[in-house]
Amino acid sequence: MRRPYIAGNWKMWGTRAQAAEYCDRLLELLPDEGRRPADVGVCVPFTALDVCVERLRGSGVVVAAQNMHFAANGAYTGEVSPAMLTELHVMGVVLGHSERREYYCEQDRALQEKVAAALAAGLQPILCVGETEEEREHGKTERKLRHQVQEGLEKVDRERLADVVIAYEPVWAIGTGRVATPEQAQEAISFVRALVGDRSRDAEERVRVLYGGSVKPDNAAEILAQPDVDGALVGGASLDPEDFARIVAAAAS
Ligand code: PGA
Repeated sequence: MRRPYIAGNWKMWGTRAQAAEYCDRLLELLPDEGRRPADVGVCVPFTALDVCVERLRGSGVVVAAQNMHFAANGAYTGEVSPAMLTELHVMGVVLGHSERREYYCEQDRALQEKVAAALAAGLQPILCVGETEEEREHGKTERKLRHQVQEGLEKVDRERLADVVIAYEPVWAIGTGRVATPEQAQEAISFVRALVGDRSRDAEERVRVLYGGSVKPDNAAEILAQPDVDGALVGGASLDPEDFARIVAAAAS
């Protein structure tokens, strides 16, 4: 019932020239839209957004940004508003990635404004949540996820909850090569789904919850086969179009 979603997070990779080359190669590798086992998206730097939108037009591949301010405009030097993204025909935005939380003091309070502002602007938010290694070791994983999910979705109306994509990304698995076991991913993601269910039973069934953290072509299939795992947010492995296309193919299993 829930269609898988495989999103590539380029992080700070991709000049405009690299982005154009990447998109052309990716389209050569992916099956046509109607035969794809999953929705596919690329989350790219602001400066590459319009290039990707143009190269991927008509392909069904979604282009998303990696951050956004919630205000329409104002004295926020260096920030980008929802309308600045939709003007470029960007379809989505990653919000609350752990790197933004850690290095740029992204707070749950601002995130709840961002998630609501993205939906209001017609952008699909990908809200990232996840525990640190220390939190997992101290048995605080569920407490952390409950806090992040409840805060992040606080300003979203019940009818729109299922329009948010949630990415469960344990911080200890991001960029480390230490992928969560399929059981760990399933357990955390079913917990996240149940948290959405506390707000709306219907949204619980429909909301897509992705796994992220060291997803590679050779470990994707067993993670994606878990019943509550609806796709993947892929960092490092998404920078190689071949590897990324193999991860998309793994969603068929
Ligand atoms: P990774 O990154 O796949 O390189 O671990 C995932 C992410 O940060 O979204």
